[in-house]
Formats: sequence, structure tokens, C-alpha cells
Amino acid sequence: MKVSQVMQMRSSVRGFIDKPVPDEILRRIFENAQQSPSNCNTQPWKVYVFSGQKKDELSKRLVAGVLSGKPASPDFDWSVQYQGDHRERQFGAAAVLYGALGIDRKDKQARAEAMLRNWQFFGAPHVAFFTMEKYLGVMGAVDLGVYAQSLSLLLEENGISSCMQGALGQFPGPVRAMTGMLESEGVLFGMSFGYEDTEAPANAAKTDRAELNDSVHFLV
Ligand SMILES: Cc1cc2nc3c(=O)[nH]c(=O)nc-3n(C[C@H](O)[C@H](O)[C@H](O)COP(=O)(O)O)c2cc1C
Repeated sequence: MKVSQVMQMRSSVRGFIDKPVPDEILRRIFENAQQSPSNCNTQPWKVYVFSGQKKDELSKRLVAGVLSGKPASPDFDWSVQYQGDHRERQFGAAAVLYGALGIDRKDKQARAEAMLRNWQFFGAPHVAFFTMEKYLGVMGAVDLGVYAQSLSLLLEENGISSCMQGALGQFPGPVRAMTGMLESEGVLFGMSFGYEDTEAPANAAKTDRAELNDSVHFLV
């Protein structure tokens, strides 16, 4: 499949069937993702992939943490308040998702339950956490973003869907505890992945994009 085809096909998937990706396919995909470019070839990504019992245990701990009502304590700053076009698009994406789920915008309880699905990894058989040394800041974040997109395209090429999740950087405690990550490392974000459940209502959500001219300026 061509990259352009993958780009046209892809969308964030938030409902998966209960079928793990075979180990050898997983390894091959992650091996390929190592070819991602990075600033000065620093390759700052450290990736933890949870599957099976470890994934279930992690989800249990994360959900318990979220439900306890303790505030999020991300390792990196995710506190931006979107403005203008960004805010409109943020609302647009939420409307598309809640629309697909049949959730009224004013139904806070239902929205909270939908949000909680993030830490249940949307039922995915696998979840990856993208971590890096905290001192790297924005320099490392760029590299991790590039890495994650390479990974998601490679997954897609293999018929495996994914959803990148900033939500998975909000409560790093359980990931830290289960991986033995160093104090100097932080969890930036994560990604649930697996085979799409085509019946899942959430997967009917399709976002749109701005006109090319709004985003890209060709100067000659
Ligand atoms: C860095 C990043 C963080 C994201 N965080 C979340 C998240 O926490 N939960 C979620 O359901 N989707 C999350 N998404 C998915 C976006 O909502 C989605 O990419 C966007 O609405 C465009 O839709 P599409 O991916 O289906 O084309 C995230 C995407 C990115 C790139």
C-alpha cells in the first residue's frame, strides 16, 4: 500500500476486537519504526508496549487513579487552552465523536464515561507509551511525534488501527511504577492499537480538515 493510500484510509480508531497482533508482526513494525528521523539522530524515544495481563493491570490502576478524583499530574505541560480556529476544530472533533457515540454535549456523565475509555485503551489489545528524558522538552517532543506518526502509518499498512492519546500522559504514576522508568524520564503520550472493531459506534466518527490554503503557503 502506498503512503498516500494509508493517509487517505487512516483515522483514529476507538474500538478494537479482542485479537492480539502476533508477536513477530509487532516486532517487525517496531523494528521499522526505528528508522524514524530525529534531531541529530538522538532517537530519544523510549517506548513501553503493554499487552495481555500487564496491559489489563495498567488499565485497572489508571482507571482507579482517574476515578479517585486526584488531579492529573503529567510529566510535561499539556495545559494549553486552545483559541480561535484551534478551539473551533477542538469542538468540531468532540462533536463528531460524541455524535457518533450518541452522547448529548450537555450530558456530563456520559462524556466522562466516554473519556474514561481512554484509560481502558478503548478495548485495544496493546498500548504503547512514548517516554523520553524530561530535560529534552520541546526538542524531544518533536522527535516523539515524528516517531509516533511513523509507527501509526506502519501499523496501518499492516491492517492495524490506532489512536494517539494525550490522555495517556496525564497520569504517569502507574506507568512509572510498572516499568521502573527513571525519575529523569517522563511519559509524553501514548497510543492504543489493534484490529478495528468496525461495529464500534466510535469508529464512525470522521473528522474533516481545513482547506489546503488555510494551512500551507507556497512561496515562489
Ligand atoms: C498528540 C495527539 C494526542 C491525542 N490525544 C487523544 C486523546 O487523548 N484521546 C482521543 O480519543 N484522541 C486523541 N487524539 C486523536 C485526535 O482527536 C484525532 O487525531 C483528531 O481528532 C483527528 O481525527 P483523526 O485522527 O480521526 O483523523 C490525539 C491525537 C494526537 C495527534
